[in-house]
Amino acid sequence: MTTQTGLEKDCVLIFDTTLRDGEQCPGATMTFEEKLEVAELLDTMRVDVIEAGFPVNGVEDFRAVQEIATRTKYSIVCGLARATEKDIDAAGAAIKAAPRGRIHTFIATSPMHMREKLGKSPQDVLERIIWSVNRARNLIDDVEWSCEDGTQSEFDFLCTCIEEAIKAGATTINVPDTLGYTHPSEYYSLIKRLRESVPNADKARFSVHCHDDLGMAVANSLAGVLGGARQIECTINGIGERAGNAALEEIVMAIRTRSDSFPYHTGIDTTMLTRASKLVSNVTSFPVQYNKAIVGRNAFAHASGIHQAGMLKNKRMYEIMTPVSVGAPESKLFMGKHSGRHAFEHKLSELGYRHLGSNQIEDAWGRYKALADRKKTVQDEDIEALVDEEIARAHERIKVLSLIVVAGTMGPQSATLTLDIDGEHRTEQATGNGPVDAIFAAIKKLVPHEAVLELYQVAAVTEGTDAQAEVHIRLRGESRSFSAVGHDLDTLVATAKAYIGALCKLLARAQKEIRPTDPSSK
Ligand code: KIV
Ligand code: ZN
Repeated sequence: MTTQTGLEKDCVLIFDTTLRDGEQCPGATMTFEEKLEVAELLDTMRVDVIEAGFPVNGVEDFRAVQEIATRTKYSIVCGLARATEKDIDAAGAAIKAAPRGRIHTFIATSPMHMREKLGKSPQDVLERIIWSVNRARNLIDDVEWSCEDGTQSEFDFLCTCIEEAIKAGATTINVPDTLGYTHPSEYYSLIKRLRESVPNADKARFSVHCHDDLGMAVANSLAGVLGGARQIECTINGIGERAGNAALEEIVMAIRTRSDSFPYHTGIDTTMLTRASKLVSNVTSFPVQYNKAIVGRNAFAHASGIHQAGMLKNKRMYEIMTPVSVGAPESKLFMGKHSGRHAFEHKLSELGYRHLGSNQIEDAWGRYKALADRKKTVQDEDIEALVDEEIARAHERIKVLSLIVVAGTMGPQSATLTLDIDGEHRTEQATGNGPVDAIFAAIKKLVPHEAVLELYQVAAVTEGTDAQAEVHIRLRGESRSFSAVGHDLDTLVATAKAYIGALCKLLARAQKEIRPTDPSSK
């Protein structure tokens, strides 16, 4: 029998119920294959117990628990059962093939649940507990018993129920906060008092199972452990009934990061937490909130100039754990309008721009600030685009100064374009079959040439409606082709820039092929 004596005291078992309490919440249903995939990952991550489902719930649930039981190598595979013959036998049959299996049987013990849901007296419930645990023990040695709505049950009655469940053979006693109603100091006292008051408490492992209705599931679970529990029931990303369960990744990292206050260990490979979060989010289609602790996409992202400067000196200044420890990519200096010059220069060098002179950096910084004011997020690709354009500009003879386009259903579409050509400002208007054609026509008026458009491709550099447009253009000259890329928040401006970029290359490198002629001389 599992006891809480000796060295075991320091070990907290992680009981994952993503596939049961998690899966039963609205919208989180998983297919058979998805359940197997999640279970395999949990097993590899070394979760101690996988609650694989509720076998009596239907053929599909039974089949999933049975298959997980067959495939799982390290974890205990557990099936849930109410205190009925049908449930317990189904759970026993489903987990039979597991190298290590468990039946988890439960019944409500709070006055309201017993009276209004079960229609049973406390004495009836007590008898049912003894009967159900006995029945499960006849099928398997590892039996967990839960008192549903335990935190709202009468203390003396709860003590009697637990004592009888242990006598009947329960090896784990789980005390759920089914409604997410308790708070840390109350739950700590409850678990502590139960362990002190139940005469045979030392014969079983106590377990906590907290729901997050008041946002305290993780804190309550940890308080329960301080009170003497040595198993925590939780789910990946905290999914579960209503507001969900305690989040596994938060529990595990809290224990690891604050070992000074929680001197326990779990067997979890924490470097798999990010992967697990992504998988569960993908299969359930439940997005992970950006600022979610441990696994949110911003969990290791730093935005303010002050924080970024601190991070560049010493990451410990603004991070209590490393991204590597949870399997996340390196900390991210989130480039936006709050970023400082220091972070910008660091980002440039990270992107490989180590050769830039101070004037080039200064110019790029000015352009960056202007872009960051207009755009929520400035991505690495945006910065590359800014700098590359900056470098390219040094060789440019022609620059786009302004562009006004008339587009829409009422043709003809027109473009009024002003270019700086060798320091001289010239403006032309042209019409065309659509705005892009009009822009090309205006360029041709300003810089007459014979080059042929070979490629015109538009892409968003980054995601979102505020993305920078990236336009690729390839122009064919007499003997060869020249390509250029234009970036701008406006696709048509990016188009003009790309065309002019390719044209400049043509003019610069193949002057013999095409010479710009002064339109005024025509
Ligand atoms: O929240 C709860 O009470 C449960 C039990 C079945 C353990 O999920
Ligand atoms: Zn629950």
